[in-house]
Amino acid sequence: RALVGDAYTPVNANEVAYLPQALIEIDSSGRIDRVTPAADPSYAARLKAAEVQHLVEHLPADQVIWPGFVDLHVHAPQWPQAGLALDKPLAAWLNDYTFPLEAKYDDLAFAKRVYHELVHELLSQGTTTVLFFGTIHTAANLELARQCMQQGLRAAIGRVAMDNPDQTPDYYRDASAGEAVAATERFIHQLKELGAENPLAPLPVITPRFVPSCSDEALAGLGRLAHQYDLPIQTHVSESNWEHQYAIDRFGMHDAAVLDHFGLLTEKAVLAHGTQLAPKDQALLRERGSALAHCPISNAYFGNGVLPVQELLAAGNQVGLGTDISGGYSPSLYDNLRHAVALSQVRNDGVTTQDAGTAGSRISMTTAFYLATLGGAKALHLPVGQVQAGCLADLQVVSDRFTRPAESPQDRFERLMYQTTARELRQVIVHGETVIDHAG
Ligand code: GUN
Ligand code: FE
Repeated sequence: RALVGDAYTPVNANEVAYLPQALIEIDSSGRIDRVTPAADPSYAARLKAAEVQHLVEHLPADQVIWPGFVDLHVHAPQWPQAGLALDKPLAAWLNDYTFPLEAKYDDLAFAKRVYHELVHELLSQGTTTVLFFGTIHTAANLELARQCMQQGLRAAIGRVAMDNPDQTPDYYRDASAGEAVAATERFIHQLKELGAENPLAPLPVITPRFVPSCSDEALAGLGRLAHQYDLPIQTHVSESNWEHQYAIDRFGMHDAAVLDHFGLLTEKAVLAHGTQLAPKDQALLRERGSALAHCPISNAYFGNGVLPVQELLAAGNQVGLGTDISGGYSPSLYDNLRHAVALSQVRNDGVTTQDAGTAGSRISMTTAFYLATLGGAKALHLPVGQVQAGCLADLQVVSDRFTRPAESPQDRFERLMYQTTARELRQVIVHGETVIDHAG
């Protein structure tokens, strides 16, 4: 198939390219074969050829195209409690709300109901790739994988490992470190089997919940598995003062150094939050090529902080965007990219008149857009997040209610990033197929 319409694509953290009336040709393997801008000398000939080869959709003038979003941090089982108890400290929120809810996913019927609804919700918000935390329950995690493949969401899924009796409840814990590691290894094989032959087979992810939840032996075993199978890793890092201090008390090191010690800081690692990372921790992540999942809404509640995104990007750290359902209440990366910009302004100017703020910490909407697209794609080493030949065809078609021919492309881009909600999405396309269709 082929689409013709005005497209925006991230170039880097500071630049978005505008491709007016671009011809986007998608091949049968779900990849973007070629993108021909209207100004290209070969445009007329390409369009004619495309009309012979493909079904060409000419989008109306009030619709634009940009890449589907990449959500680097979602706790799938927490979806039913989005917005609940956000005023509690992290440890209390985990123990009193989150662990009791996650324990319910030994009920497969419950898991199926929630995961069906969540996958639909994320796609409806323009998110086309998600890095998920599941629970300790293999059957429920596999059900999440099934829902992703059935509904057309690109995903990577982790079976959560949490075996430390001091920091996990009796009713929701791996029986031992050996069991945490063995169940993770079984999940890797079961997921591969389930996804065999499916182009949207979710990738398994090594998932120690966070340093406090895991014994030394589990952390070491999971680090070994990540290397043995060359898999992505996801966990939380330096999210709250409490967690940060916990690692110092138990190991005499920051949690980033603990993860590194156990082989868990690789270039395929995605670490959520990081608001309390010290400069030396940020440098360690940079050296290892590990990415941060910036979760601006969640960090405002549980991290009591704003990640210094501008400084991290300038220093060369990899950063993407995450909703952190349900530490963050919203399933929309549009909401999160707007919060990322707004909170960076607060950080820049100071929260109160006594606080001078940190100059140069503002991010632009262009940078936030990069985080939600190419930044996340790089963190996951997936060829998504751009409207570009060779990229997988994961796209959003958005309607613009206030189209004005005289408006500059950059103004239109910024306006649409603030105005777009699920209601404005006309199509969400994953792997070349329309999976959300409000085009009619
Ligand atoms: N740290 C450990 N587990 C969690 C979780 O489920 N959510 C958040 N935000 N932080 C965590
Ligand atoms: Fe989280």
